[in-house]
Amino acid sequence: MSRKKPSIHGQWSSRWAFILAAGGSAVGLGNIWKFPYITGVNGGGAFVLIYLVTVLLVAAPIMVAEVMLGRRGRQSPINTMRDLAHEAKASRHWYLLGAVGIGTGVLILSYYSVIAGWALAYVFKTGAGALNGASPGQVHALFSGLTGNPYALLFWHTLVMVMTMAVVARGVRSGLEKAVRWMMPALFVLLLVLVGYAMSSSGFYEGMRFLFKPDFSKISPQGVLIAMGHAFFTLSLGMGAIMTYGSYLSERTSILPAVAAIATVDTLVALLAGIAIFPLVFSYGLTPGAGPGLIFETLPIAFGQMPGGAFFGMLFFILVVFAAWTSTISIIEPAVAWLVENHRYSRKRACVVIGVVTWAIGIATVLSFNAWQDYKLFGKTAFEAIDFLTASILLPLGGLSIALFAGWVMSARVVREELSIPQAWIYRAWYVLIRYVAPLGIALVFLNLLGIV
Ligand code: TRP
Repeated sequence: MSRKKPSIHGQWSSRWAFILAAGGSAVGLGNIWKFPYITGVNGGGAFVLIYLVTVLLVAAPIMVAEVMLGRRGRQSPINTMRDLAHEAKASRHWYLLGAVGIGTGVLILSYYSVIAGWALAYVFKTGAGALNGASPGQVHALFSGLTGNPYALLFWHTLVMVMTMAVVARGVRSGLEKAVRWMMPALFVLLLVLVGYAMSSSGFYEGMRFLFKPDFSKISPQGVLIAMGHAFFTLSLGMGAIMTYGSYLSERTSILPAVAAIATVDTLVALLAGIAIFPLVFSYGLTPGAGPGLIFETLPIAFGQMPGGAFFGMLFFILVVFAAWTSTISIIEPAVAWLVENHRYSRKRACVVIGVVTWAIGIATVLSFNAWQDYKLFGKTAFEAIDFLTASILLPLGGLSIALFAGWVMSARVVREELSIPQAWIYRAWYVLIRYVAPLGIALVFLNLLGIV
């Protein structure tokens, strides 16, 4: 066992606190908003299958490695990577992994906060009964009314940023963690209710076929990349968020079982969201490829028709906001921890600085849905470009670097000791995944996209 001091930022109170926090980070808009919409855009079953396979063979093993690096280094990703590289007598440039990660986090949060703002707006819209008995056309109009109004989007985006920074300023442990304890199970139950509703709808069979019947002719090399990128995104991997959470983890917790639990729950939540949404898409003759508005244009139809829908709808969006909130705080934690460590900022001041920068970048996403919707770079709006750059390029590259570092740079003895997996065969299987399968898999997807293989 290593004999390091705990992180200066504190430590989780228990193994459960870590699982809840990392699980809270993992389960978020990625599961409920993003997974269904990118599945719809990328043709369904084949995309889902590729996503599931990458979670199992690439992302989950890398999650084990990322937590392990954090716990061994006990600092923000930049300093953790610098120390671990030193320990392994490797190039000090590995700190760049942490640095790029911090920038990636700022970019991700800049748009994530805007989308979380949509969910926040919907808490009030559904609660006020705006959706009662609404037709698909009215539901669509409500959504375009929101995204077409930059001032409204800016307002909700600002609110989400303030909520996020308020929690991060207080330090990781207090407040939110207590909320997560019951909100996560509640979200799960409510998703099951929605799945029940979807099962009784006429499009259930077609929805399930869309989700689970792979048709590889519908998927492009770019679709494969997006599926892989999403495996990282949904598990919060590849930019140091999980590394930072790992740095607050006690020596006594075994990493592998905790990661297995988190990855399983995260995947289940995404699949349930898909099962709740696609049957409605087909029942009401909507298009699966509708894009980022998908959940906001489908689920409200169900809420508008079920008894007590205003209440359930409001509750659902409250839970989505909380799921997003426990994710936003993790996206930005590495940047804040780094400013505190290297620039002697107080936690509060670090939060204000990072919060303002992120908020300002978010304005590009706000405008990309209205005033700037026709400004495109490589055919992508600002929102689409930031999302593609971060989720599909930077996170997989970050994950690749983590796999290479844990598999090839760190000494095998240290890795084994940090993980202390009792069953030798499980350890060996993980080591094969991290050394060969994960890096080659990621490399193949990129080479394929570039038309090289
Ligand atoms: N995993 C979260 C979701 O699915 C988003 C998230 C939190 C994230 N922390 C992250 C994504 C770090 C990438 C990197 O909603």
